[in-house]
Amino acid sequence: MSDAVGTLSMREEVLQGLSGARKELSPKYFYDERGSELFEEITRLPEYYLTRAEEELLVRWVPGWIAELAPRTLVELGAGSSRKTRVALDALRDGGGGGLFVPVDVSEEFLMRVAQELRADYPSLEIRPQARDMTSSLVLQGDLPRPALFLLLGSTLGNFYPEQAETLLRRIRGEMVDGDRLLLGIDLRPGPGKSVDDLEAAYNDSRGVTAEFNRNILHVLNRRLRTNFRPDAFEHRARYNPEHGRMEIGLVALEDQQVRVPDGGTISVAEGEEIRTEISSKYDRSTIEGFLERAGFRLETWQPDEAERFALVLAETDGEWLEA
Ligand code: TRP
Repeated sequence: MSDAVGTLSMREEVLQGLSGARKELSPKYFYDERGSELFEEITRLPEYYLTRAEEELLVRWVPGWIAELAPRTLVELGAGSSRKTRVALDALRDGGGGGLFVPVDVSEEFLMRVAQELRADYPSLEIRPQARDMTSSLVLQGDLPRPALFLLLGSTLGNFYPEQAETLLRRIRGEMVDGDRLLLGIDLRPGPGKSVDDLEAAYNDSRGVTAEFNRNILHVLNRRLRTNFRPDAFEHRARYNPEHGRMEIGLVALEDQQVRVPDGGTISVAEGEEIRTEISSKYDRSTIEGFLERAGFRLETWQPDEAERFALVLAETDGEWLEA
């Protein structure tokens, strides 16, 4: 993905994001190898309850769902290390009929390394990694034995603005046939079992791993676009916006900066100005139900944890739905 065309469109996309009234970068640029590793570290932080809550739910519910559905293929979107997915892979393998696992991720090197590890650990499964930027297209290569279970875990859906989230769900729907299922892992709104403080702590860990992960996006731009951001001159910020029900994560400039973008001019960043790097939306059931319906799905199972911090959502395709 570092070919000339890819780099050109990355430059355009980045320039566009930094030219508006509110500066913004796409969170997909977090995930070079270093970024993918830092994110793995985030998932192990004491404050980052999301991964543990999701893993508990997966352990408790997924083996039964897989036994019932008997999928022949698992497709994981934004797979990362696929660590949590091993619960599902164990169940697929133990089903006895072999099976195919298709991990999809934007970070190619990381994806290939993880695929090698999975091949060693699951010799009876076919592992077919596909490097894709799911924000622009998601056409998967080769036939998928059906039924297939598609996974979008880690509350990744929440990293998209509502219209983009709907587009992504439609794109996933376009790869599915009737009988397939979609499994979403989503982080929930604050409530009795989760305060706004708990939520904000998950994105402001005491060891500063999240801050380092956040700043890494500027290292990625410096390397891939030859910009001259000074990552140390930015401060990590993550706050809950109750009106939109989402975490808003950004980098605040500690001083005025002129950032050079080779073949793209100069970007001025004022002291105190924030570059948004990510949103992380927190959902309730009816919001998710609406998204799913508009994208051609029907919600089948809504399974929150006991404290209602996080939920797994199983959706089936709506056979009547025609792609717009
Ligand atoms: N999907 C993760 C989430 O929304 C991504 C994430 C976790 C993240 N921590 C972050 C993104 C910190 C940016 C900064 O929780």
